[in-house]
Amino acid sequence: MCGIIGYVGDADETLSVLLDGLSNLEYRGYDSAGIAVGGDGLRVEKRAGELDALQTALDGETGDAIDGPVGVAHTRWSTHGPPTDENAHPHTDETGRVAVVHNGIIENYRELRDELEAEGVAFTSETDTEVVPHLVARELRAGRAPEAAVRTATERLAGSYALAVVVAGTDALFAVRHDSPLVLGVGEGESFVASDVPAFLERTRDVIYLDDDEFVRLDATGWTVTDADGDVVDKDVRTVEWEAEQTGKSGYDHYMLKEIHEQPVSLRQCISGRVDELDGRVTVEELDDLGSPETVQFVACGTSYHAALYGAQLLRAAGVSANAYYAHEYATAPAPLSGDDLVVGITQSGETADTLSALREASGRGAETLALTNVVGSTAARESDHVLYIRAGPEIGVAATKTFSSQLVGLNLLTAYLTDGGTERRLVDELRGVASDVQAVLDESTAADVVETFVDADAFFFLGRGFDYPVALEGALKFKEITYEHAEGFAAGELKHGPLALVTADTPVFAVVTGEGEAARKTIGNVKEVEARDAPVVVVTDGVADAGRYADYVLDVPTTDERLAPLLANVQLQLVAYHMAARLGRSIDKPRNLAKSVTVE
Ligand code: F6R
Repeated sequence: MCGIIGYVGDADETLSVLLDGLSNLEYRGYDSAGIAVGGDGLRVEKRAGELDALQTALDGETGDAIDGPVGVAHTRWSTHGPPTDENAHPHTDETGRVAVVHNGIIENYRELRDELEAEGVAFTSETDTEVVPHLVARELRAGRAPEAAVRTATERLAGSYALAVVVAGTDALFAVRHDSPLVLGVGEGESFVASDVPAFLERTRDVIYLDDDEFVRLDATGWTVTDADGDVVDKDVRTVEWEAEQTGKSGYDHYMLKEIHEQPVSLRQCISGRVDELDGRVTVEELDDLGSPETVQFVACGTSYHAALYGAQLLRAAGVSANAYYAHEYATAPAPLSGDDLVVGITQSGETADTLSALREASGRGAETLALTNVVGSTAARESDHVLYIRAGPEIGVAATKTFSSQLVGLNLLTAYLTDGGTERRLVDELRGVASDVQAVLDESTAADVVETFVDADAFFFLGRGFDYPVALEGALKFKEITYEHAEGFAAGELKHGPLALVTADTPVFAVVTGEGEAARKTIGNVKEVEARDAPVVVVTDGVADAGRYADYVLDVPTTDERLAPLLANVQLQLVAYHMAARLGRSIDKPRNLAKSVTVE
């Protein structure tokens, strides 16, 4: 996810504060970076790649000359347009008077860009962000003061944003947030805004957490926070107590836990601008020229393969022929393909060698390809005919969590698009609610207490049926990856065909039971079978089928559309795996023998 830092204070220190801030934000992941320092004029420097590239540009050209009492800086994680110097932030207006850094997605940027271009404004990047400096510049030209210009411009924006803006000739910084994080740091004679506290923690521990639609002005006299109407808001200044090594994790003990808790935000980002609440439509610009494939084949590995199994079920349930294949098996036993087929590679990294080679195989055999990925400009994205970005933001923990839930939402968008032109009122409504449903799971989960009773167990089984089946597999994979305990996931119906032989009083069974009807009823039958062998049973359920009454422990999820309930159940299983691994003292963010991106076959 992009990182922002803004500073107002000592002119001689602005550049070094911004560069230190950027390096403190590196943990969020980024593919380009830039700074703008303001005062009488405005100096902007930005580069694709690591911070070193920016530093080299500054050293080589203008570094010593850049000073001024106010500045903004940014680490970019691409969403609109690949990582290039032009697409890096800050973005400026045509005169170079206004510089903007942004975290989030401007949903109506296309319409705003068309409007501005019709007025003759020339754009220099492919980003959604660039509309903002042009809008601010237009307001300045209309005679507004800088603060009023920024306020008026942001009123035009739809979507999610944390913005920091500097205007040449003004020793002040303006910032505003809407559905994207922004904190204010209060120092001695200096103040900061940032996406996250670590950006400025070396200089101050006093912070103000901003709420949605609050507007900040920082200048030499200090800071002012106002609401959307311009009325001053009283804010509490809190002192952050975290230890330095926790800061990149925003106070969480592990990146994995932080990323599990980021899911409400990452899911909002995934659907941002893609579901219309008014007409109940799914609209995904990237898929506009996709056509209507005869058959969809998914290729993927690991967690992404579980998403693939889910995606294939979604499409089949909607009447489209679809199958999921392990990418590494795909070339060995190729499925029949015709030119009307679509092959979808699901890969959060976009770099998994097995998945790339399956996509190349499919392409070579004449199929159209689509990459469902998190990384803009990744190999899968570049080589495929179409790309659907899941916008989960960078994931640092090796075990995939937020990328999996965003893959599931991405697959719902794809299915809605391929099957009914994207109109499905109920799904759209429930997709809009999925972030708060995940938040409810995070707030109320008792997973930590449940696992406490199983620390001496011999093995762990996870079962589910229908849409719950891929989640059972994923629950087991996550569990084994980070606890190093034996865990097995299987389709509930397979129980009697073998795994039941392993079930004892020392093998807890996690049964995922969501929705009502035949599948839930049958899984409850399987729950009774394992109970009869004295296995402790944990049911992860939305309560619809009343499965909880047969369980020793229940992990609840809110009721939603049957296609989204497994996503919520999976959040409970992520927490189960995490808390067990924490209890056992495992290396959670970097499990032994595993890598985040598997670039060899
Ligand atoms: C599990 C995990 C792996 C990946 C797999 C594919 O937590 O992260 O199983 O899912 O290596 O990776 P991507 O999605 O990058 O292709």
